[in-house]
Amino acid sequence: MKQDIMKRLLSVVFMCLVLSVVASAKDVLVSSPDGSLTVTVGVDGGKAWYRVVRGGETVIGRSALGLVLKDGDLKDNFKMGKVTRASLDETWSQPWGEDAQVRNHYNEMRVILQEKNGQKRQLGVVFRAYDDGVAFRYEFPRQRGLQDFVIMDEATEFALPSDAQAWSIPALTPYYEGIYTREPVSQKKNMSGPVALEVNDGLYMAIMDANLTDYSTMNFSHQGTTLKADLVPWKNGDKVRVGNSRVSPWRAIIIGRTAADILLSRMPLNLNDPCKIEDTSWLKPTKYVGIWWALQKQRWTWSQGDRHGATTENTKRYIDFAAKHGLGGVLVEGWNYGWDTDWTKHGDGFSFTKAYPDYDLQGLCRYAGERGVRIIAHNETGGAAQNYENQLEDAYRLYESLGINTVKTGYVNSHFYNGELQHSQWGVQHFRKVIETAARYHLMIVNHEGAIPSGIQRTWPNLIATESMRGQEYNAFDRRGGNPPYHECILPFTRGLGGPMDFTPGIFEYRNDSVPGTRPQNTLAHQLAEYVVIYSPGHMAADQIENYEHQPAFKFIEEVPTNWERTLVPHASMGKYVTYVRQERGTDNWYVGSVTDSEARDLDLPLDFLGDGKYMAIIYEDGPDADYRNNPYPMSIRRLDVDKNKVLHLHLASGGGCAIQILPVK
Ligand code: NOJ
Ligand code: CA
Repeated sequence: MKQDIMKRLLSVVFMCLVLSVVASAKDVLVSSPDGSLTVTVGVDGGKAWYRVVRGGETVIGRSALGLVLKDGDLKDNFKMGKVTRASLDETWSQPWGEDAQVRNHYNEMRVILQEKNGQKRQLGVVFRAYDDGVAFRYEFPRQRGLQDFVIMDEATEFALPSDAQAWSIPALTPYYEGIYTREPVSQKKNMSGPVALEVNDGLYMAIMDANLTDYSTMNFSHQGTTLKADLVPWKNGDKVRVGNSRVSPWRAIIIGRTAADILLSRMPLNLNDPCKIEDTSWLKPTKYVGIWWALQKQRWTWSQGDRHGATTENTKRYIDFAAKHGLGGVLVEGWNYGWDTDWTKHGDGFSFTKAYPDYDLQGLCRYAGERGVRIIAHNETGGAAQNYENQLEDAYRLYESLGINTVKTGYVNSHFYNGELQHSQWGVQHFRKVIETAARYHLMIVNHEGAIPSGIQRTWPNLIATESMRGQEYNAFDRRGGNPPYHECILPFTRGLGGPMDFTPGIFEYRNDSVPGTRPQNTLAHQLAEYVVIYSPGHMAADQIENYEHQPAFKFIEEVPTNWERTLVPHASMGKYVTYVRQERGTDNWYVGSVTDSEARDLDLPLDFLGDGKYMAIIYEDGPDADYRNNPYPMSIRRLDVDKNKVLHLHLASGGGCAIQILPVK
């Protein structure tokens, strides 16, 4: 202990020495509340830069700041202007989330970069130093020479201290539905954020957009080991058209000593604005089943015909099942006109109010309501976003009047109707318009093929989940066999940092007649663990309901909550394994989910997070011969008396997992 304190003292002294050596008198700096992270900002030869240091260690080396504009750059004619400071230490609560309470604790430094000559314009850069990372964003005060304007590029850089291992998908992957891979940064092509970085044994980072509002998405190119912000263009090459909104998104750099620290950072949420929905009592995310997996496996069709899935009869069966098992929602895809052509090319044909003749829209909403279940309306647009916007008010008014409280949106087309990219400022604006309109009609949104999540669910908690990743659906139709076994071991460190994932866990049947061999590349216990590992306040039980009948493992899906009091991460290694421990919101019930890649693992889990007294653990684990390659089904379910002194031993098979429910014994 004493040694620890000495070490820390020495590192603080060392840090002060280092800073006094490298920071010139005119550089300015801000440190995080516990003093561990320091950002220095300076201007040399007209160019602005920042640097991040932790102890004596450079975390982000000297990196450029600035903007290339259509009309007069703001990047190499600066001198340091006014510097102002602020601090905040507040704790706020969220209607749903991984933690009920979130602490937002930072020191802030606002730097005005002043043009030395010419128009003498000002560019603001606000830095926030948290104990778990650093963020900054540009501010564009209205002034002479900077009214409405167009950004053509950001000079923004992130100079990594070494050739870190980066987990990322390529930039502009359609809908972000790519496989995350790990390579040294220097060997990467352009990347989409969030990028997760393994720098060394004590330094892990993730770099991402936070609060992506009325701006284009930040991707990354790189020169050697320095990442550079790359903005997604409009069709004509403009990157961002700055009008009413006068700030960029935050460029967030989450910094941790362990991989688990990255998962526990709430920086992305803290960098977003407080909730704009005054009364959140109607936000009731729930688990759901749906007319869905049979469509992915081509047993049913979205379009009309013999195998039409969204019939009144099928939907009633799903409603009955949901009611019987305490699941609150039934997603119905293919209920509305528009599916009978090649809809990815003819999205303008979609109606969001007119049901097919074999689907009794009104009657089914009533039938569901009488059984305590809500229909989840599906709105696939085929990328014809304008057609959707035109119908938005009418459709949402209708849904609200029918008691529908959730809409799943979809945009299968990498371009929107006028050729704009989905990741562009146009796309970002469209997605926000949908979320805000939905809030007015008390509708929650599950957004497939959406913008990259950046924590905006703090402001708009009716955005309950987004896909923007390669979901479970690839385990039905992917021609290469499905998602790799490590997929769920990297999603939380990357895509998951921005917000809840509509991954759709819970596949119990591994046979696939439509694409033989394509199936979850993991075990049944792994499928259960996904309900805890992957965060969403509205998880789906994705399989066809027949596959859940008489399955003891389904009890875990029935009982696992989707809203949490507190989240812990006892084991984490990017892309290899991860264990989450979560306490159910408002109770003393605990849930554990642990998943591994293709390697079998043995992990010890001390139960020291439990309160005093006795608990019963119900453990769903890989059976003795389970193996994702050729024996994914074996699972054993056992009960064990435990208390906070117990250390549970978890054995995860190759591609396996473990799901545990721990309940107090009264
Ligand atoms: C892609 C979505 O991710 C999937 O969930 C949906 O079923 C299809 N599009 C059809 O809209
Ligand atoms: Ca999708």
